[in-house]
Amino acid sequence: MTLLAIESSCDETSASVLTDGHIRSNIIAAQLIHERYGGVVPELASRAHQQHIVLVVEQALAEAKVAKTDLSAIAFTRGPGLLGSLLVGASFAKAFALGLNIPLIEVNHMQAHVLAHFIKDTPEQNVPEFPFLCLTVSGGHTQLVRVDGPLDMHVIGQTQDDAVGEAFDKSAKLLGLPYPGGPLIDKYAKLGNPMAYPFPLTDMPDLDFSFSGIKTAIMYFLRDNTRRNSTFVADNLNDICASIQHTLIQMLLKKLTKAVRETGIRQIAIAGGVSANSGLRNSLLALGAEHGWQVFIPKFEYCTDNAAMIAMAGYVKFQQNEFVGQDVSPLPRMEL
Ligand code: KG4
Ligand code: ZN
Repeated sequence: MTLLAIESSCDETSASVLTDGHIRSNIIAAQLIHERYGGVVPELASRAHQQHIVLVVEQALAEAKVAKTDLSAIAFTRGPGLLGSLLVGASFAKAFALGLNIPLIEVNHMQAHVLAHFIKDTPEQNVPEFPFLCLTVSGGHTQLVRVDGPLDMHVIGQTQDDAVGEAFDKSAKLLGLPYPGGPLIDKYAKLGNPMAYPFPLTDMPDLDFSFSGIKTAIMYFLRDNTRRNSTFVADNLNDICASIQHTLIQMLLKKLTKAVRETGIRQIAIAGGVSANSGLRNSLLALGAEHGWQVFIPKFEYCTDNAAMIAMAGYVKFQQNEFVGQDVSPLPRMEL
């Protein structure tokens, strides 16, 4: 079977072609327009999806050497995400399915981030076994998920305010860095001392997280220090980034360790845009080695938003005959 998948939940327009579980193409068009506004502007995101989607799909089919008439089904992101952005992908997928008379598959974006772990680019690649724990960390979500089966996922802890990706991006904004700031904090952090500035760790009950406090702590820290020395940020950017990143990683790994203790599950995966963070990847590998966990870290191209993960989720649903009709509409707040 050959499937076309479309992702348009936020600011990446992406299309992917999968044949029998193997990814044949994964085209991603990022929207650079948001950089000058310091965050994603929903109306502009929706318009950019409209401009990109036909080209992105054509490129995905061409790279996979697949004709439209070879497709067995089409999968698309139903939610969660920005309504205007989701609408473009959903409308396109529905029209495509109708025109080709092939089944339509709805995919939950957060489920797809987890299922990205089942994309095998080489036959010898290890994939997690059920049950495993997945820390899904992105610009909109921070979830600890117990994964009992490919479509059987339970959120056992989550952020009560900002997502960790948002904390990265908002901290970067306070430092005068462009959007999205997460990758830039990662870059400068590599050159800095993570212990230079201790920021407070915010704790929450159970397995939940809170990331809004650190943003305020950083704001006051910068205000006080730049009052004394106007070039403080420029002089100490690497150390500040390393300290912020270290604090956020500690908060994530503390709860992950608690989740392992409570569930007894020792197979650990990370997913979502922030799982591209080199500090998080290295710290998790070190922690896993210390505790004897089996750790799964996705390839960079499957961390941030991409349609290959939607294709993998669509493939699982195709095998279970989970199709939807033309009356399906996007769900901006779709739950896992
Ligand atoms: O999964 P994703 O592409 O989109 C959402 O579903 O939100 O995640 C985007 C988030 C942004 O907040 C971005 O700053 C963050 O992932 N991110 C990173 C890194 N790469 C992407 N954060 C820290 N370090 C990185 N290397
Ligand atoms: Zn995402």
